[in-house]
Amino acid sequence: MRQKIVAGNWKMNTTVPQGVELAKEVVALGAALKDCKLVVAPPFTHLYAVEQVVKGTAVALSAQNCADHTSGAYTGEVAVDMLESVGCEYCILGHSERRQYYGETDQTLCTKIKLVLDKNIKPIFCIGENLEEREAGKHFQIVEDQVKNVLYTLSAEEMKKVVVAYEPVWAIGTGKTATAEQAQEIHACVRKCIADKFGAELAEEITILYGGSCKPSNAKEIFAQKDIDGGLIGGAALKAADFIAIGESF
Ligand code: 13P
Repeated sequence: MRQKIVAGNWKMNTTVPQGVELAKEVVALGAALKDCKLVVAPPFTHLYAVEQVVKGTAVALSAQNCADHTSGAYTGEVAVDMLESVGCEYCILGHSERRQYYGETDQTLCTKIKLVLDKNIKPIFCIGENLEEREAGKHFQIVEDQVKNVLYTLSAEEMKKVVVAYEPVWAIGTGKTATAEQAQEIHACVRKCIADKFGAELAEEITILYGGSCKPSNAKEIFAQKDIDGGLIGGAALKAADFIAIGESF
């Protein structure tokens, strides 16, 4: 059975006290949740304080990014050692906002994913096409390339620890969700692409999340698809009740 995950990417939202409050609510409301693992990904400044809240609970901690170097003169960056020291179990990598606004490339992501895996932190590796690419009918090719350019550089042992998140850029924060069919066909394509390199058995074990305007009202239909193992949630993760309602959608 593949691990089901609902992960909340808080992006650049909440102050530290607000984030601690939100984490407390997620822990309290999520305690009864049996069918999926909850993950919260607050900003860097919150990680230490949020870890004090989630430690020993079923809620896991994730960072939203990490540096592509291990330490040294890289002003403003946060290294994987630092993430490990505050108890991060996961790290989101390659979010489209990082690719789009901060020039993150497949090459940088190859470095980052290795660093994260070396510390036994599980990457939540994001892929997805933008609107122009979808309208040009290139969406399958784009996600396949994103998978091949980064995940194909890993060993099978490393690949087993990766969570993939398909987030069509046109659905992020727009209120426009991919239909369950649109999401499923990409998830199936991603799983096949992983199978082509690592074998069908390994590919069957990989958790593939959907992200992009996922909310309590549409999560059930999306999560019912056979290759969709949960969600990477933005806006709706900032309200504990909505986030948990999404977790209850399996
Ligand atoms: P929204 O749920 O706000 O569309 O964001 C999705 C996302 O980018 C999660 O990483």
